[in-house]
Amino acid sequence: MNKVRIHELKEIIKNADDAYYGLDQPIYSDQEYDSFVRELNQLEDSPLRKVGHATKTSNLPNIKHREPMLSLDNALEEAEFADFYSKLEEKLGTEKVTLLSEYKFDGLAVEIVYRDSKIYQASTRGDGEVGEDVTANILTIKNIPKEIPKSSKLSHLKSFEVRGEIILPISSFRSLNELRLSRDEVVFANPRNAAAGSLRQLDASITASRPLEFYAYGLASSEKLELKTQKEILDLLSLAGFTVNEYTTLNNFTEATNDYQKRALLRQDLDFEIDGVVYKVNNLKDQTELGFKARSPRWAIAYKFPPQEVVTRLNSITIQLGRTGVLTPVAELEPVNLSGVVVRRATLHNEVEINRKDLRIGDQVLVRRQGDVIPAVIKSFPERRNGNEVKFIMPTHCPECNSILGKDNEEDIQIRCLNYSCPSKLIERLKHFVSKPAFNIDNLGMKILAQLVDEGIVKRPPDLFKLIKGQLSQIDRLGDKSEANILEAIEISKNVSFNRFIYALGIRHVGVQTAKALAKFLNDLEHLKNITKEELSSIPDIGDKVSETIINYFSDFNEIEMIDSLLSLGIQIEYEEKVSSENKTLNGLKVCVTGTLPSLTRDEAVQLIEKNGGSFTNSVTKKTNFLLAGEEAGSKLYKAQELGIKVITEDEFRQMIN
Ligand code: IVH
Repeated sequence: MNKVRIHELKEIIKNADDAYYGLDQPIYSDQEYDSFVRELNQLEDSPLRKVGHATKTSNLPNIKHREPMLSLDNALEEAEFADFYSKLEEKLGTEKVTLLSEYKFDGLAVEIVYRDSKIYQASTRGDGEVGEDVTANILTIKNIPKEIPKSSKLSHLKSFEVRGEIILPISSFRSLNELRLSRDEVVFANPRNAAAGSLRQLDASITASRPLEFYAYGLASSEKLELKTQKEILDLLSLAGFTVNEYTTLNNFTEATNDYQKRALLRQDLDFEIDGVVYKVNNLKDQTELGFKARSPRWAIAYKFPPQEVVTRLNSITIQLGRTGVLTPVAELEPVNLSGVVVRRATLHNEVEINRKDLRIGDQVLVRRQGDVIPAVIKSFPERRNGNEVKFIMPTHCPECNSILGKDNEEDIQIRCLNYSCPSKLIERLKHFVSKPAFNIDNLGMKILAQLVDEGIVKRPPDLFKLIKGQLSQIDRLGDKSEANILEAIEISKNVSFNRFIYALGIRHVGVQTAKALAKFLNDLEHLKNITKEELSSIPDIGDKVSETIINYFSDFNEIEMIDSLLSLGIQIEYEEKVSSENKTLNGLKVCVTGTLPSLTRDEAVQLIEKNGGSFTNSVTKKTNFLLAGEEAGSKLYKAQELGIKVITEDEFRQMIN
């Protein structure tokens, strides 16, 4: 029985190694791979078993390591780490063991051989005994010293080996994948695979184009220097010009576990991936005394972080309909724990993404958390399919109202429901309308809104202001008291600031900031309704795309009617600069300003216009009522004269408003 399983596990690990190392496209998550290796180690205790990965699929020449490159034992929880620590105390016969902590870089282990202070050869770890020759590639990496300075003790050695990890910074990984995507190339699943793929190139100019970095953590064949501690090794490497990440000396178990917690938090701020912390016995004599197991030293352990990647099943793909009618496919996953959080769903963005990742319903998929962002479905595992998986087909009709779906623009990737009164869009729209930065109607949650829509009570936002006592309390489990609260909140919300009102309309691309900018620069709703593209372009932060959707919005009859209904139902828009009633001399008038005025700056003039109820316009159109002109007025003056628009001086303007 054991024999069969051992054979099976070896087969699994070999295939995993080939895919991981040969193709840089993993077929198992780290967690799965580790569990296979653990199981195999428990079943078979053969000291002959090689560590690490096969190199078979690579075309690079092989290099035998002078000393084997070993692996590290893992601790997955505190109990395992405690076990490691107490064994050290036991074996060394001391009360206190000093450990040194380093990040466990999630990259690719390499060894660089220096001879006569120059890089002689560099190789990947490979199977621990034999690795691949990556000398030419290593020479392209900027933070690796090509020559050891004379000031360094290392220059006294004829030959030595530096060991460390090659990583690709997360930011570079993201841009690399973006580039690959734009070229229709397969993207890398994670920074480690990208680092491996970038280093293991026959053409070193490809490696040179990727900003790889090397972090040194070990030294071999340096006995002559009679170094005493791991700390001395790191300091020596650092002085010789190698990049060494921060390490910490820890004098007892509590210090070590605190260090682990601290580094787990720091992890989020790093621009490279780590998958744990490595704890090494600091004293090198102690290290020698402790010695090695078959494949790992007894003096070190990798205390891992909870995995950022897990494999789970893609149970189905549902469609989420957004407020603006966009259809987003969503992965419904077999619930899975990902670094402490149960993940059930993840956005799949659009159909193009699904096809690119070749995701099928029923597939095993890799789900990954990048930094602390929302989990994403990275890839499928086609080799694990059993034939029952189903391809996803994007619907052609709206799942809610059954009208045909389409694109706004040809270039859009996203498909949307183009039906204005689609009920699902309505619920989302209402949700937006009552949200905090909009009308801020407390207690009007999704469930109630959905029921109001289902019952046909609310067909569009203005209907909310028609709700009367008794209508809400009919709804499931909603008592009189809750109803009264909601109705009161609705009443209060009727006085709304201009920017909230604009935001509430739900114009595409008009978020809180844009709504604020519009409210600040425009006088009133009338002004906004009649706004021209030209005027919009003069408002800071308003780009062409937003301008276009704003113009489109206000040219839609349904929307204008909706706004009119809101106003007729008693919505009072509060403008930023409240105009006192006795001062409204310019009420409803559009005033344009040009030239240099005798005493007012342009901004002051605009403020006065707005304070007195007028609206400032940046250009002269048929709708302009006055042009306030100073010296050196140019084209605006001619245009006003041409259109027969009254031109006034600053004096005349002052008389008007006083
Ligand atoms: S020491 C005999 N230190 O982890 C000690 N390894 O599972 C061998 N790694 O192959 C390595 N960061 O790729 C060491 N600070 C660190 C490390 C580290 C990452 C990797 C390395 C090694 C693997 C062992």
